[in-house]
Amino acid sequence: MPTPSEGVSVRLWDWPVRLVHWLLVALILFSWWSSEDYLNWHRWSGYAILGLVLFRVWWGFAGGGAARFANFVKGPGAILAYLKTVGRRDTAVTPGHNPLGALSILAILGVLLVQVGTGLFTVDIDAFEGGPLSDRVSFETGRAIAEIHELTFRALQALVVLHLAAIAYYLVWKRTNLIRPMITGRRVLPSDPGLPSAPLWRLVLGAVLAGAAAWFVSKGLRL
Ligand code: HEM
Ligand code: HEM
Repeated sequence: MPTPSEGVSVRLWDWPVRLVHWLLVALILFSWWSSEDYLNWHRWSGYAILGLVLFRVWWGFAGGGAARFANFVKGPGAILAYLKTVGRRDTAVTPGHNPLGALSILAILGVLLVQVGTGLFTVDIDAFEGGPLSDRVSFETGRAIAEIHELTFRALQALVVLHLAAIAYYLVWKRTNLIRPMITGRRVLPSDPGLPSAPLWRLVLGAVLAGAAAWFVSKGLRL
């Protein structure tokens, strides 16, 4: 197997993927911090997270580099084959997320949507504060959804811990730094996989659609 120094430097993650990733990290931390005493900011941070996740889903179909779901979401056969190589130190270099990592990424994006979705209906204990759709459900239902909102946050925390553990495992055991490509976009691969690039209009259209959807949600689905 070629060593990294023998390969070619490829632009793996385009800047929208990287920007979305690091904004999500910052906003999730902010949402956590603001969830007790700063619910107004907490809501805005949630709408921004919604916009980012919606954009990422769009980009999974329309984006460039290794961003497309078709590039990394694989069936059980590929996942099993990857699992057999997980303990090996010589990394089989995949041009993008590996088939197992792809599952955790879909799970993170899915849980984030549930997190925002439940937040919309959540109401706090004294009914002073709530999500923009909390007036559409009874107080009891809003409180029950608040419980789920808390539970999904625990699930998100667990997924992030797993995510960081996998990245640390790659760094220490497989001697592969995945973090640098998520910052610079570039990674050395054995050969150029010929990843597609995306025209600017798709980026603009996705950003406008995702932004508009998040704004509409922030208004409680009222124009
Ligand atoms: C709240 C915390 C985090 C969340 C929710 C999160 C979520 C994600 C998601 C959704 C992706 C997929 C990127 C895409 O295809 O768009 C990803 C990839 C990645 N994240 Fe994070 N992330 C978090 C924290 C971090 C941190 C702190 C680091 C660095 C230490 C990190 C490093 C990476 C790397 C290296 C990848 C690419 C993995 C690969 O090569 O397959 N993440 N993360
Ligand atoms: C638009 C999106 C969101 C809305 C409208 C929303 C709304 C709310 C409300 C009204 C509460 C107070 C509930 C209570 O006092 O029991 C709350 C709590 C909380 N939210 Fe959100 N939220 C949203 C997104 C998020 C996101 C994205 C995260 C994390 C990434 C998050 C994490 C939490 C946590 C940890 C709590 C505290 C739970 C507790 O201890 O009771 N929320 N949220």
